[in-house]
Amino acid sequence: MFSRASLQVKLAVIVVPLMTVALCLLLVVLMSTAAEDGRRALMTRATVMADVQVQALSQPVWELNTSQIIRLVQTLSKDPDVVGAKLVDELGRPLHAFGTIEGPLVIAVTRTVPHPVARDTVPLGQLTVALSRASLNETLRLQLVTAGAAIAIGAFLMVGIVFLSLQHLVFRPLALLLQAIEKVENQEWQMVEWESRDQLGTVVRAFNRMVNTLRSNERELREAFHAAEAAARAKDEFLASVSHELRTPLNAILGFSEVLKNEMFGALGSDRYRSYAGDIFSSGSHLLNIINDILDLSKVAAGKFELVERPFDIGHAIEGCVNLVRERASRNRQKLTADIQPRLPQLYADELRVKQILINLLNNAVKFTPPGGQVWAAARVNDVGGIDIIVGDTGIGIAKEDIPRALSAFGQVESVLNRTHEGTGLGLPLVKALSDLHNAQFNIDSSPGVGTIVTVSFGSERIIARTHK
Ligand SMILES: Nc1ncnc2c1ncn2[C@@H]1O[C@H](COP(=O)(O)OP(=O)(O)O)[C@@H](O)[C@H]1O
Ligand SMILES: [Mg+2]
Repeated sequence: MFSRASLQVKLAVIVVPLMTVALCLLLVVLMSTAAEDGRRALMTRATVMADVQVQALSQPVWELNTSQIIRLVQTLSKDPDVVGAKLVDELGRPLHAFGTIEGPLVIAVTRTVPHPVARDTVPLGQLTVALSRASLNETLRLQLVTAGAAIAIGAFLMVGIVFLSLQHLVFRPLALLLQAIEKVENQEWQMVEWESRDQLGTVVRAFNRMVNTLRSNERELREAFHAAEAAARAKDEFLASVSHELRTPLNAILGFSEVLKNEMFGALGSDRYRSYAGDIFSSGSHLLNIINDILDLSKVAAGKFELVERPFDIGHAIEGCVNLVRERASRNRQKLTADIQPRLPQLYADELRVKQILINLLNNAVKFTPPGGQVWAAARVNDVGGIDIIVGDTGIGIAKEDIPRALSAFGQVESVLNRTHEGTGLGLPLVKALSDLHNAQFNIDSSPGVGTIVTVSFGSERIIARTHK
Protein backbone atom coordinates (compact mmCIF):
# COMPACT_ATOMS: atom_id res chain seq x y z
CA MET A 1 0.00 0.00 0.00
CA PHE A 2 2.65 2.46 1.22
CA SER A 3 5.00 1.63 -1.65
CA ARG A 4 2.34 2.98 -4.06
CA ALA A 5 1.97 6.31 -2.20
CA SER A 6 3.44 9.46 -3.75
CA LEU A 7 6.85 10.78 -2.70
CA GLN A 8 5.17 13.64 -0.86
CA VAL A 9 3.13 11.28 1.30
CA LYS A 10 6.16 9.08 1.99
CA LEU A 11 8.22 12.10 3.04
CA ALA A 12 5.40 13.35 5.28
CA VAL A 13 5.08 9.94 6.92
CA ILE A 14 8.82 9.97 7.69
CA VAL A 15 9.31 13.65 8.55
CA VAL A 16 6.22 14.48 10.63
CA PRO A 17 6.65 11.83 13.39
CA LEU A 18 10.40 12.48 13.58
CA MET A 19 9.78 16.21 13.91
CA THR A 20 7.08 15.63 16.57
CA VAL A 21 9.43 13.48 18.65
CA ALA A 22 12.25 16.05 18.31
CA LEU A 23 9.96 18.93 19.33
CA CYS A 24 8.60 17.00 22.32
CA LEU A 25 12.15 16.33 23.50
CA LEU A 26 12.97 20.04 23.09
CA LEU A 27 9.88 20.94 25.11
CA VAL A 28 10.83 18.52 27.90
CA VAL A 29 14.35 19.96 28.12
CA LEU A 30 13.05 23.54 28.12
CA MET A 31 10.45 22.83 30.78
CA SER A 32 12.78 20.98 33.11
CA THR A 33 15.28 23.87 33.01
CA ALA A 34 12.44 26.31 33.64
CA ALA A 35 11.24 24.18 36.59
CA GLU A 36 14.75 24.01 38.06
CA ASP A 37 15.20 27.78 37.69
CA GLY A 38 11.84 28.43 39.35
CA ARG A 39 12.67 26.12 42.26
CA ARG A 40 16.01 27.85 42.77
CA ALA A 41 14.40 31.32 42.68
CA LEU A 42 11.82 30.23 45.28
CA MET A 43 14.60 28.84 47.48
CA THR A 44 16.51 32.12 47.28
CA ARG A 45 13.42 34.06 48.23
CA ALA A 46 12.78 31.83 51.25
CA THR A 47 16.44 32.15 52.27
CA VAL A 48 16.40 35.93 51.97
CA MET A 49 13.17 36.15 53.97
CA ALA A 50 14.49 33.85 56.69
CA ASP A 51 17.83 35.74 56.80
CA VAL A 52 16.13 39.10 57.22
CA GLN A 53 13.75 37.75 59.82
CA VAL A 54 16.37 35.97 61.98
CA GLN A 55 18.34 39.24 62.25
CA ALA A 56 15.19 41.00 63.40
CA LEU A 57 14.33 38.18 65.81
CA SER A 58 17.78 38.07 67.42
CA GLN A 59 17.07 40.76 70.07
CA PRO A 60 13.46 39.76 70.93
CA VAL A 61 14.45 36.05 71.30
CA TRP A 62 17.41 37.01 73.57
CA GLU A 63 15.04 39.06 75.69
CA LEU A 64 12.24 36.47 75.32
CA ASN A 65 9.93 39.28 74.26
CA THR A 66 7.02 37.05 73.27
CA SER A 67 4.74 39.67 71.78
CA GLN A 68 7.55 41.00 69.60
CA ILE A 69 8.48 37.44 68.54
CA ILE A 70 4.89 36.66 67.54
CA ARG A 71 4.59 39.91 65.63
CA LEU A 72 7.82 39.33 63.71
CA VAL A 73 7.05 35.69 62.84
CA GLN A 74 3.51 36.59 61.93
CA THR A 75 4.81 39.31 59.52
CA LEU A 76 5.92 36.48 57.26
CA SER A 77 2.34 35.38 56.71
CA LYS A 78 1.67 38.61 54.82
CA ASP A 79 3.49 37.18 51.84
CA PRO A 80 0.87 35.15 49.93
CA ASP A 81 3.44 32.48 48.92
CA VAL A 82 4.38 31.77 52.58
CA VAL A 83 2.38 28.80 53.81
CA GLY A 84 3.96 28.49 57.21
CA ALA A 85 6.79 29.41 59.57
CA LYS A 86 8.13 27.98 62.79
CA LEU A 87 10.50 29.42 65.39
CA VAL A 88 12.13 27.12 67.94
CA ASP A 89 14.62 27.92 70.75
CA GLU A 90 18.11 26.45 71.02
CA LEU A 91 16.66 23.29 72.58
CA GLY A 92 14.09 22.84 69.86
CA ARG A 93 11.15 24.05 71.88
CA PRO A 94 8.63 25.93 69.73
CA LEU A 95 8.39 29.62 70.42
CA HIS A 96 5.85 30.46 67.73
CA ALA A 97 4.49 28.86 64.53
CA PHE A 98 1.73 29.20 61.97
CA GLY A 99 0.59 27.25 58.92
CA THR A 100 2.47 24.17 57.78
CA ILE A 101 6.14 23.78 56.93
CA GLU A 102 6.00 20.28 55.40
CA GLY A 103 4.35 18.73 52.39
CA PRO A 104 4.90 17.95 48.73
CA LEU A 105 4.05 21.45 47.49
CA VAL A 106 6.30 23.19 50.01
CA ILE A 107 9.87 24.49 49.91
CA ALA A 108 11.24 25.12 53.41
CA VAL A 109 14.42 26.94 54.49
CA THR A 110 15.77 26.91 58.06
CA ARG A 111 18.05 29.67 59.42
CA THR A 112 19.73 30.07 62.80
CA VAL A 113 18.74 33.02 65.01
CA PRO A 114 22.07 34.65 65.98
CA HIS A 115 23.03 35.98 69.45
CA PRO A 116 22.59 39.78 69.39
CA VAL A 117 26.12 40.29 70.78
CA ALA A 118 28.18 37.14 70.48
CA ARG A 119 27.09 36.72 66.90
CA ASP A 120 28.90 33.63 65.61
CA THR A 121 29.03 31.64 68.79
CA VAL A 122 25.75 30.88 70.52
CA PRO A 123 22.68 30.31 68.37
CA LEU A 124 19.46 31.25 70.08
CA GLY A 125 17.14 29.10 67.99
CA GLN A 126 16.03 28.32 64.46
CA LEU A 127 13.49 29.84 62.10
CA THR A 128 11.96 27.75 59.32
CA VAL A 129 10.14 29.53 56.47
CA ALA A 130 7.98 27.47 54.09
CA LEU A 131 6.94 28.74 50.66
CA SER A 132 4.26 27.16 48.47
CA ARG A 133 5.19 25.83 45.01
CA ALA A 134 1.62 26.26 43.78
CA SER A 135 2.22 29.57 42.02
CA LEU A 136 5.48 28.28 40.57
CA ASN A 137 3.62 25.30 39.14
CA GLU A 138 0.95 27.56 37.73
CA THR A 139 3.63 29.66 35.99
CA LEU A 140 5.25 26.53 34.63
CA ARG A 141 1.93 25.30 33.31
CA LEU A 142 1.37 28.58 31.48
CA GLN A 143 4.90 28.45 30.09
CA LEU A 144 4.33 24.89 28.91
CA VAL A 145 1.20 25.87 27.05
CA THR A 146 2.75 28.93 25.36
CA ALA A 147 6.02 27.16 24.48
CA GLY A 148 4.10 24.16 23.18
CA ALA A 149 1.89 26.36 21.02
CA ALA A 150 4.87 28.35 19.72
CA ILE A 151 6.78 25.21 18.90
CA ALA A 152 3.78 23.61 17.17
CA ILE A 153 3.25 26.70 15.00
CA GLY A 154 6.96 26.83 14.25
CA ALA A 155 6.98 23.16 13.30
CA PHE A 156 3.97 23.60 11.07
CA LEU A 157 5.64 26.51 9.29
CA MET A 158 8.87 24.56 8.95
CA VAL A 159 7.15 21.54 7.42
CA GLY A 160 5.30 23.87 5.10
CA ILE A 161 8.49 25.60 3.99
CA VAL A 162 10.29 22.27 3.54
CA PHE A 163 7.47 20.94 1.37
CA LEU A 164 7.19 24.13 -0.63
CA SER A 165 10.90 24.09 -1.41
CA LEU A 166 10.79 20.35 -2.22
CA GLN A 167 7.83 21.07 -4.47
CA HIS A 168 9.86 23.62 -6.35
CA LEU A 169 13.21 21.79 -6.33
CA VAL A 170 12.16 18.18 -6.79
CA PHE A 171 8.51 17.47 -7.45
CA ARG A 172 7.96 20.01 -10.22
CA PRO A 173 10.91 18.88 -12.40
CA LEU A 174 9.90 15.28 -11.68
CA ALA A 175 6.37 15.97 -12.89
CA LEU A 176 7.70 17.68 -16.03
CA LEU A 177 10.01 14.75 -16.69
CA LEU A 178 7.19 12.28 -16.23
CA GLN A 179 5.00 14.21 -18.65
CA ALA A 180 7.74 14.19 -21.28
CA ILE A 181 8.35 10.46 -20.79
CA GLU A 182 4.65 9.75 -21.31
CA LYS A 183 4.82 11.76 -24.53
CA VAL A 184 7.86 9.78 -25.69
CA GLU A 185 5.84 6.61 -25.18
CA ASN A 186 3.31 8.08 -27.64
CA GLN A 187 6.12 8.86 -30.13
CA GLU A 188 6.08 12.60 -29.38
CA TRP A 189 9.48 14.07 -28.74
CA GLN A 190 9.19 16.82 -26.13
CA MET A 191 12.08 18.48 -24.28
CA VAL A 192 11.82 19.16 -20.56
CA GLU A 193 12.17 22.86 -19.78
CA TRP A 194 14.07 22.82 -16.51
CA GLU A 195 17.39 24.29 -15.45
CA SER A 196 19.19 23.43 -12.24
CA ARG A 197 22.71 22.48 -11.26
CA ASP A 198 21.72 19.57 -9.04
CA GLN A 199 21.24 15.89 -9.85
CA LEU A 200 17.75 16.51 -11.18
CA GLY A 201 19.14 19.10 -13.57
CA THR A 202 21.65 16.48 -14.75
CA VAL A 203 18.88 13.92 -15.24
CA VAL A 204 16.79 16.44 -17.19
CA ARG A 205 19.75 17.35 -19.42
CA ALA A 206 20.48 13.67 -20.05
CA PHE A 207 16.81 13.11 -20.91
CA ASN A 208 16.81 16.07 -23.32
CA ARG A 209 19.93 14.73 -25.01
CA MET A 210 18.21 11.37 -25.38
CA VAL A 211 15.12 13.02 -26.89
CA ASN A 212 17.39 14.84 -29.36
CA THR A 213 19.06 11.58 -30.38
CA LEU A 214 15.71 9.85 -30.76
CA ARG A 215 14.40 12.75 -32.81
CA SER A 216 17.29 12.66 -35.26
CA ASN A 217 17.19 8.84 -35.37
CA GLU A 218 13.54 8.97 -36.26
CA ARG A 219 14.19 11.57 -38.93
CA GLU A 220 16.98 9.46 -40.43
CA LEU A 221 14.78 6.40 -40.31
CA ARG A 222 11.96 8.22 -42.04
CA GLU A 223 14.35 9.51 -44.72
CA ALA A 224 15.79 6.03 -45.22
CA PHE A 225 12.28 4.64 -45.44
CA HIS A 226 11.29 7.21 -48.08
CA ALA A 227 14.50 6.52 -49.99
CA ALA A 228 13.83 2.76 -49.88
CA GLU A 229 10.26 3.32 -51.01
CA ALA A 230 11.44 5.49 -53.88
CA ALA A 231 14.04 2.89 -54.85
CA ALA A 232 11.43 0.12 -54.81
CA ARG A 233 9.12 2.23 -56.93
CA ALA A 234 11.93 3.02 -59.38
CA LYS A 235 12.75 -0.71 -59.61
CA ASP A 236 9.13 -1.61 -60.32
CA GLU A 237 8.82 1.11 -62.92
CA PHE A 238 12.08 0.02 -64.52
CA LEU A 239 10.96 -3.62 -64.62
CA ALA A 240 7.60 -2.67 -66.03
CA SER A 241 9.04 -0.52 -68.79
CA VAL A 242 11.84 -2.97 -69.66
CA SER A 243 9.41 -5.89 -69.75
CA HIS A 244 7.10 -3.90 -71.91
CA GLU A 245 9.90 -2.98 -74.32
CA LEU A 246 11.09 -6.59 -74.47
CA ARG A 247 7.68 -7.91 -75.36
CA THR A 248 7.45 -6.16 -78.74
CA PRO A 249 10.61 -7.65 -80.33
CA LEU A 250 9.86 -10.98 -78.63
CA ASN A 251 6.46 -11.12 -80.29
CA ALA A 252 8.16 -10.56 -83.65
CA ILE A 253 10.63 -13.39 -82.88
CA LEU A 254 7.75 -15.70 -81.91
CA GLY A 255 5.67 -14.79 -84.94
CA PHE A 256 8.47 -15.23 -87.47
CA SER A 257 9.88 -18.41 -85.93
CA GLU A 258 6.37 -19.86 -86.02
CA VAL A 259 6.13 -18.99 -89.73
CA LEU A 260 9.51 -20.68 -90.32
CA LYS A 261 8.69 -23.69 -88.11
CA ASN A 262 5.43 -24.30 -90.00
CA GLU A 263 7.11 -23.64 -93.38
CA MET A 264 4.20 -21.41 -94.26
CA PHE A 265 5.82 -19.96 -97.37
CA GLY A 266 7.52 -23.11 -98.59
CA ALA A 267 10.00 -25.79 -97.38
CA LEU A 268 13.10 -24.69 -95.47
CA GLY A 269 15.39 -27.09 -97.25
CA SER A 270 17.14 -28.79 -94.34
CA ASP A 271 15.30 -30.49 -91.45
CA ARG A 272 17.75 -28.91 -89.01
CA TYR A 273 16.45 -25.44 -89.95
CA ARG A 274 12.95 -26.58 -89.00
CA SER A 275 14.17 -27.97 -85.71
CA TYR A 276 16.10 -24.73 -84.96
CA ALA A 277 13.04 -22.67 -85.78
CA GLY A 278 11.08 -24.85 -83.29
CA ASP A 279 13.76 -24.25 -80.65
CA ILE A 280 13.64 -20.49 -81.29
CA PHE A 281 9.86 -20.60 -80.88
CA SER A 282 9.85 -22.59 -77.61
CA SER A 283 12.71 -20.57 -76.08
CA GLY A 284 10.92 -17.38 -77.07
CA SER A 285 7.66 -18.60 -75.51
CA HIS A 286 9.48 -19.44 -72.31
CA LEU A 287 11.06 -16.00 -72.25
CA LEU A 288 7.69 -14.37 -72.90
CA ASN A 289 6.17 -16.26 -69.96
CA ILE A 290 8.92 -15.04 -67.67
CA ILE A 291 8.57 -11.47 -68.89
CA ASN A 292 4.82 -11.60 -68.44
CA ASP A 293 5.25 -12.81 -64.85
CA ILE A 294 7.74 -10.02 -64.11
CA LEU A 295 5.42 -7.47 -65.65
CA ASP A 296 2.46 -8.76 -63.65
CA LEU A 297 4.38 -8.76 -60.37
CA SER A 298 5.74 -5.26 -60.86
CA LYS A 299 2.30 -4.00 -61.82
CA VAL A 300 0.86 -5.46 -58.63
CA ALA A 301 3.70 -3.93 -56.58
CA ALA A 302 3.12 -0.55 -58.22
CA GLY A 303 -0.61 -0.83 -57.52
CA LYS A 304 -1.37 -0.62 -61.24
CA PHE A 305 -2.83 -4.05 -61.67
CA GLU A 306 -6.48 -4.02 -62.61
CA LEU A 307 -8.76 -7.01 -62.34
CA VAL A 308 -11.39 -7.72 -64.96
CA GLU A 309 -14.08 -9.24 -62.79
CA ARG A 310 -17.19 -11.12 -63.81
CA PRO A 311 -18.96 -14.31 -62.69
CA PHE A 312 -17.68 -17.59 -64.16
CA ASP A 313 -17.85 -21.32 -63.54
CA ILE A 314 -14.87 -22.25 -61.37
CA GLY A 315 -15.33 -26.00 -62.04
CA HIS A 316 -14.88 -25.36 -65.74
CA ALA A 317 -11.77 -23.28 -65.12
CA ILE A 318 -10.20 -26.01 -62.97
CA GLU A 319 -10.88 -28.72 -65.53
CA GLY A 320 -9.34 -26.56 -68.26
CA CYS A 321 -6.16 -25.94 -66.24
CA VAL A 322 -5.86 -29.59 -65.18
CA ASN A 323 -6.04 -30.59 -68.85
CA LEU A 324 -3.14 -28.23 -69.62
CA VAL A 325 -0.79 -30.16 -67.30
CA ARG A 326 -2.24 -33.61 -68.00
CA GLU A 327 0.36 -34.48 -70.59
CA ARG A 328 3.28 -33.56 -68.31
CA ALA A 329 1.73 -35.44 -65.41
CA SER A 330 1.29 -38.60 -67.43
CA ARG A 331 4.87 -38.29 -68.68
CA ASN A 332 5.87 -38.20 -65.00
CA ARG A 333 3.57 -41.17 -64.31
CA GLN A 334 1.62 -39.05 -61.78
CA LYS A 335 -2.01 -39.56 -60.96
CA LEU A 336 -3.82 -36.29 -61.75
CA THR A 337 -7.40 -35.68 -60.55
CA ALA A 338 -9.92 -32.83 -60.29
CA ASP A 339 -12.45 -32.89 -57.47
CA ILE A 340 -15.16 -30.27 -57.91
CA GLN A 341 -18.06 -30.06 -55.49
CA PRO A 342 -21.35 -30.50 -57.40
CA ARG A 343 -23.66 -27.50 -57.88
CA LEU A 344 -20.97 -24.96 -56.93
CA PRO A 345 -22.11 -21.34 -57.17
CA GLN A 346 -20.39 -19.06 -59.66
CA LEU A 347 -17.30 -17.11 -58.60
CA TYR A 348 -17.15 -13.36 -59.18
CA ALA A 349 -13.47 -12.79 -60.04
CA ASP A 350 -10.93 -12.22 -62.82
CA GLU A 351 -11.17 -15.55 -64.65
CA LEU A 352 -7.86 -15.17 -66.47
CA ARG A 353 -6.01 -14.45 -63.21
CA VAL A 354 -7.71 -17.28 -61.34
CA LYS A 355 -6.59 -19.60 -64.13
CA GLN A 356 -3.08 -18.12 -63.79
CA ILE A 357 -3.19 -19.01 -60.08
CA LEU A 358 -4.31 -22.56 -60.91
CA ILE A 359 -1.72 -23.12 -63.62
CA ASN A 360 1.13 -21.83 -61.47
CA LEU A 361 0.09 -24.09 -58.60
CA LEU A 362 -0.47 -27.11 -60.83
CA ASN A 363 2.88 -26.55 -62.57
CA ASN A 364 4.62 -26.51 -59.21
CA ALA A 365 2.73 -29.60 -58.02
CA VAL A 366 3.69 -31.56 -61.14
CA LYS A 367 7.25 -30.21 -61.11
CA PHE A 368 7.97 -30.97 -57.44
CA THR A 369 6.31 -34.41 -57.27
CA PRO A 370 8.38 -37.47 -58.08
CA PRO A 371 7.10 -40.12 -60.55
CA GLY A 372 4.32 -42.25 -59.12
CA GLY A 373 2.99 -39.45 -56.93
CA GLN A 374 -0.41 -37.78 -56.96
CA VAL A 375 -1.50 -34.28 -57.95
CA TRP A 376 -5.02 -32.98 -57.53
CA ALA A 377 -7.06 -29.80 -57.82
CA ALA A 378 -10.31 -29.21 -55.97
CA ALA A 379 -13.00 -26.58 -55.43
CA ARG A 380 -15.61 -26.49 -52.68
CA VAL A 381 -17.69 -24.16 -50.53
CA ASN A 382 -15.75 -23.06 -47.43
CA ASP A 383 -16.68 -22.27 -43.80
CA VAL A 384 -17.44 -18.61 -44.47
CA GLY A 385 -19.70 -19.39 -47.44
CA GLY A 386 -17.07 -18.53 -50.06
CA ILE A 387 -15.16 -20.89 -52.32
CA ASP A 388 -11.86 -22.68 -51.64
CA ILE A 389 -9.59 -23.56 -54.55
CA ILE A 390 -7.13 -26.25 -53.55
CA VAL A 391 -4.09 -27.69 -55.33
CA GLY A 392 -2.34 -30.57 -53.58
CA ASP A 393 0.42 -33.05 -54.25
CA THR A 394 2.37 -35.88 -52.62
CA GLY A 395 5.67 -34.31 -53.65
CA ILE A 396 8.90 -33.23 -51.95
CA GLY A 397 7.21 -30.55 -49.82
CA ILE A 398 8.70 -27.36 -48.34
CA ALA A 399 10.17 -27.04 -44.84
CA LYS A 400 8.36 -24.51 -42.66
CA GLU A 401 11.38 -22.21 -42.48
CA ASP A 402 11.70 -22.18 -46.31
CA ILE A 403 8.14 -21.02 -46.99
CA PRO A 404 8.89 -17.26 -46.70
CA ARG A 405 11.70 -17.68 -49.25
CA ALA A 406 9.44 -19.65 -51.60
CA LEU A 407 6.91 -16.80 -51.40
CA SER A 408 9.39 -14.04 -52.18
CA ALA A 409 9.99 -12.84 -55.76
CA PHE A 410 12.73 -14.93 -57.43
CA GLY A 411 12.93 -17.00 -54.21
CA GLN A 412 13.47 -20.72 -54.58
CA VAL A 413 14.06 -23.30 -51.91
CA GLU A 414 16.89 -25.00 -53.80
CA SER A 415 19.83 -22.72 -54.39
CA VAL A 416 20.77 -21.90 -57.99
CA LEU A 417 23.86 -24.13 -57.77
CA ASN A 418 22.27 -27.37 -56.62
CA ARG A 419 19.00 -26.87 -58.44
CA THR A 420 17.34 -29.93 -59.93
CA HIS A 421 14.21 -28.13 -61.16
CA GLU A 422 14.05 -25.24 -63.56
CA GLY A 423 12.07 -22.08 -62.87
CA THR A 424 12.44 -18.44 -61.95
CA GLY A 425 10.86 -18.27 -58.52
CA LEU A 426 8.06 -15.98 -59.66
CA GLY A 427 5.14 -18.46 -59.56
CA LEU A 428 4.22 -18.48 -55.85
CA PRO A 429 4.70 -14.72 -55.28
CA LEU A 430 2.42 -14.09 -58.23
CA VAL A 431 -0.19 -16.52 -56.87
CA LYS A 432 -0.01 -14.75 -53.51
CA ALA A 433 -0.25 -11.29 -55.12
CA LEU A 434 -3.20 -12.29 -57.30
CA SER A 435 -4.97 -13.84 -54.27
CA ASP A 436 -4.42 -10.61 -52.33
CA LEU A 437 -5.88 -8.58 -55.19
CA HIS A 438 -9.02 -10.72 -54.87
CA ASN A 439 -9.01 -10.33 -51.07
CA ALA A 440 -8.65 -14.10 -50.99
CA GLN A 441 -6.77 -15.91 -48.22
CA PHE A 442 -3.64 -17.68 -49.42
CA ASN A 443 -2.53 -20.63 -47.31
CA ILE A 444 0.28 -23.08 -47.83
CA ASP A 445 0.39 -26.30 -45.83
CA SER A 446 3.45 -28.39 -46.54
CA SER A 447 5.77 -30.91 -44.98
CA PRO A 448 8.97 -32.22 -46.53
CA GLY A 449 8.62 -35.68 -48.03
CA VAL A 450 4.84 -35.73 -47.52
CA GLY A 451 3.47 -33.14 -49.87
CA THR A 452 2.05 -29.68 -50.26
CA ILE A 453 -1.50 -28.33 -50.16
CA VAL A 454 -2.11 -24.75 -51.25
CA THR A 455 -5.53 -23.25 -50.57
CA VAL A 456 -6.86 -19.97 -51.95
CA SER A 457 -10.04 -19.03 -50.08
CA PHE A 458 -12.40 -16.56 -51.73
CA GLY A 459 -14.82 -14.74 -49.44
CA SER A 460 -18.61 -15.05 -49.56
CA GLU A 461 -18.88 -11.61 -51.25
CA ARG A 462 -17.53 -13.27 -54.43
CA ILE A 463 -20.30 -15.87 -54.61
CA ILE A 464 -23.05 -15.61 -57.18
CA ALA A 465 -25.87 -18.01 -56.31
CA ARG A 466 -26.99 -20.28 -59.17
CA THR A 467 -30.35 -19.27 -60.53
CA HIS A 468 -32.61 -22.31 -61.05
CA LYS A 469 -33.79 -22.71 -64.56
N1 LIG B 1 4.23 -27.99 -54.70
C1 LIG B 1 5.45 -27.76 -54.26
N2 LIG B 1 6.18 -28.74 -53.65
C2 LIG B 1 7.43 -28.50 -53.24
N3 LIG B 1 8.06 -27.29 -53.33
C3 LIG B 1 7.40 -26.27 -53.92
C4 LIG B 1 6.07 -26.45 -54.40
N4 LIG B 1 5.66 -25.26 -54.92
C5 LIG B 1 6.70 -24.41 -54.77
N5 LIG B 1 7.74 -25.00 -54.16
C6 LIG B 1 9.04 -24.39 -53.80
O1 LIG B 1 8.88 -23.00 -53.83
C7 LIG B 1 9.79 -22.41 -54.75
C8 LIG B 1 9.13 -21.21 -55.40
O2 LIG B 1 8.08 -21.60 -56.25
P1 LIG B 1 7.73 -20.72 -57.48
O3 LIG B 1 7.59 -19.30 -56.98
O4 LIG B 1 6.58 -21.29 -58.21
O5 LIG B 1 9.08 -20.74 -58.35
P2 LIG B 1 9.59 -21.82 -59.40
O6 LIG B 1 8.50 -22.77 -59.65
O7 LIG B 1 9.92 -20.98 -60.58
O8 LIG B 1 10.80 -22.42 -58.77
C9 LIG B 1 10.11 -23.50 -55.70
O9 LIG B 1 11.39 -23.28 -56.27
C10 LIG B 1 10.13 -24.70 -54.81
O10 LIG B 1 11.34 -24.81 -54.12
MG1 LIG C 1 6.54 -22.32 -60.16
